Amino acid sequence: MWLFYLYFTVFHLSSISLADWSSASAIRLSRQCWREWPLFSADIQSSSDGLTELVFDGSQHSSSRFDGGSSINSGPWTYAPVCTRLLESLGSQLCVYTNRSFSNGRGISIFTTPRIAKEFAALPAFQHPQAQDINTFSGAWYTRELPGKGMGMMAKKQLNFGDRVTAYTPALIAHLEQELSTLEREKYFRIAISQLPRPLQDRFLKLATVYGDPRIKVQDVVKANTFQLHAGGQDHLAVFPETARLNHACAPNAQYVLDPVHLTHTVAATRPIEPDEEITISYTSPLEPTDMRQRHLSDGFHFTCSCPRCIARDKSDATLQRMMDMQKVLNDWQPTSMASPKLAEKMLQLYRDEGLEGFLDIPYGFAALAYNAVGDSNKAEKYAKAAQEAILMKDGPWTANMQIWNEMLENPKRHWSFRARSR
Ligand SMILES: *[C@@H]1O[C@H](CO)[C@@H](O)[C@H](O)[C@H]1NC(C)=O
Repeated sequence: MWLFYLYFTVFHLSSISLADWSSASAIRLSRQCWREWPLFSADIQSSSDGLTELVFDGSQHSSSRFDGGSSINSGPWTYAPVCTRLLESLGSQLCVYTNRSFSNGRGISIFTTPRIAKEFAALPAFQHPQAQDINTFSGAWYTRELPGKGMGMMAKKQLNFGDRVTAYTPALIAHLEQELSTLEREKYFRIAISQLPRPLQDRFLKLATVYGDPRIKVQDVVKANTFQLHAGGQDHLAVFPETARLNHACAPNAQYVLDPVHLTHTVAATRPIEPDEEITISYTSPLEPTDMRQRHLSDGFHFTCSCPRCIARDKSDATLQRMMDMQKVLNDWQPTSMASPKLAEKMLQLYRDEGLEGFLDIPYGFAALAYNAVGDSNKAEKYAKAAQEAILMKDGPWTANMQIWNEMLENPKRHWSFRARSR
């Protein structure tokens, strides 16, 4: 029985954590709000630094750079790192690390501690050439202004389940910290951006902002477009300029996953998308009740969610509740349990009806268990494979969740769930 509890916990984790690359360095990603670090514009009024004069031109910085002293330029970095003073809250300096030739010439800048920079440098992303289909236009999308929504990403052609929309590496990764003043932080963020190759710099600076204050331009862009990335045991912010054009939906037609080894963020369609239909992902877990989703979206992304599932909140919350209730029954392994394959199929249909095709790993997993529990190992196998396919699109092959279904697929009849309910 303990096995099942492990599985249950992992299930719930799966909606937030993306991947465990190794036990030493776990890199996870979520499209998260930046609540922990609100950018108060008041911060700025009190200081006058010549910041607006900073130009976004890498060549100028390379001549006027200073070195942190303690950090020697080793690793895959184009320039000597530019470092802050020792930050007490971190017990470390933070430095800007740039690789201008990263991923076939796209470039990347990372603002982090020397220790974590070393961990990044050890990733295959910095050791071997990246796959050619990364950071190249997939032909699947275009962007356009949408009334009341800013820019959005649209399908350029018919997309089907599993079709790739985008696959990009981040332009900027920055350690989350609250010790630097807004203007100090802006200085380092600007160096990070200015050291990138021009095309990426331009794409970054064209992104939407929240405040529209030119003095904090780079943080403003980060604020409006960030994913939260867990790396080296610390929270970082990551901006993927192309992917940032994807708007939110509570019943999205696409799902994203991060390859933590190649630092590649991939988006794929989770149901058919018509040409000129908007492509969307969910910024917050669509399995949360509407209240919570709306709070996350307004706190973190400064918009009021008006997607159909938010507007029809009573209906959508009631459906979520039904799904949770069914899950509870399917999770009951007592002899009196009312769980059945039929109930599992019903739950799967509810997810589909809600437009949650990108989150079917959960109902597929329960279906696999429910069928195996009554001795139908063929159906169990089919659903375990479907669960894995869903996990691949959402969490990646590195996750513990994959292992759960590998174990079942090795031999469903030997799995602990086999005939567990047919006595
Ligand atoms: C930058 O990263 C690439 C891998 O994408 C690597 O091949 C290259 O050596 C790195 N650049 C430097 C200056 O080390």
